[in-house]
Amino acid sequence: MGVLVVGSLNVDLTVAAPRIPAPGETVLGSELHVSPGGKGANQALAAARAGAAVALVGAVGQDTFAPQALQLLRAAGVKLDSVRAASGPTGVALITVAAGGENAITVAGGANAGVTPGDLPADLGPHTHLLLQQELPPAVTLAAAQRARAAGRQVLLNAAPSRDTAPELLACTHHLIVNEHELAALAGAGAGGGAEVAGQARALLARGPEAVTVTLGARGSVTVTARATHALPAHPVTVADTTGAGDTFCGVLAARLSRGDSLSQALHWAGVAAALTCTRRGAQAAMPLWAEVQAAGAATRPTP
Ligand code: RIB
Ligand code: NA
Repeated sequence: MGVLVVGSLNVDLTVAAPRIPAPGETVLGSELHVSPGGKGANQALAAARAGAAVALVGAVGQDTFAPQALQLLRAAGVKLDSVRAASGPTGVALITVAAGGENAITVAGGANAGVTPGDLPADLGPHTHLLLQQELPPAVTLAAAQRARAAGRQVLLNAAPSRDTAPELLACTHHLIVNEHELAALAGAGAGGGAEVAGQARALLARGPEAVTVTLGARGSVTVTARATHALPAHPVTVADTTGAGDTFCGVLAARLSRGDSLSQALHWAGVAAALTCTRRGAQAAMPLWAEVQAAGAATRPTP
């Protein structure tokens, strides 16, 4: 039972602006919002709120940001015994949110950059699912995936942010989750639309994963396996800030799979929760509670 997340913790410094500044441009924005983030922490929180027992492995610094990075995780009951307090700064993300809700993010890794395979717990515990992203040093992510795979756990990899993904990591992955940019980077092709997305995702099945999900923003998501294609429309919402939507999707997907939901059910709840995260400002601060997800998605829920 449950989800082990090995990943980053950040504090997000967010400013809303009329648009993302172009290179060399200065744009006047709103007041500063400081809130917990980091792809690993965000996904851990989303999974916990969706009803899974969750533990997080990672590191924060020893500065005033560290308690902020941990605050919502702690409140949600995420196990934090394997989050080390490293010397130096906590990870920080500088985020600009444009008027349409799109964002641009720059991350200063801080303590995340010092996480090593030695920080992984000796035993994976009762967790049936391991959830990974690409904000930690690649050696840690790969070691976690290899251990979990060898121990018969399900490995989910969100290949975000886009960076070189080792073939060995893909080979250890059961379920890969990417957005269109990450898909294009992995497929080595320009971002295509519609049927081309499913085709590119399908081609990735040959490199290890048994399922590949491509999140498509307002166009929902497409998931391919050897046997089926699941195309889900987006849950309709008014977008305020897309930050944390992809993380919500991944966390809820892992949580619901760990709770025994079918793939199509888990994808449904992940999509609804991700859409709700877009309606509010911030990443963790915007993530819905499970009751809200259930209420919003009950009418469109697929049969198991
Ligand atoms: O995916 C969103 C997250 O990316 C933000 O919370 C930020 O911290 C960066 O890690
Ligand atoms: Na948000």
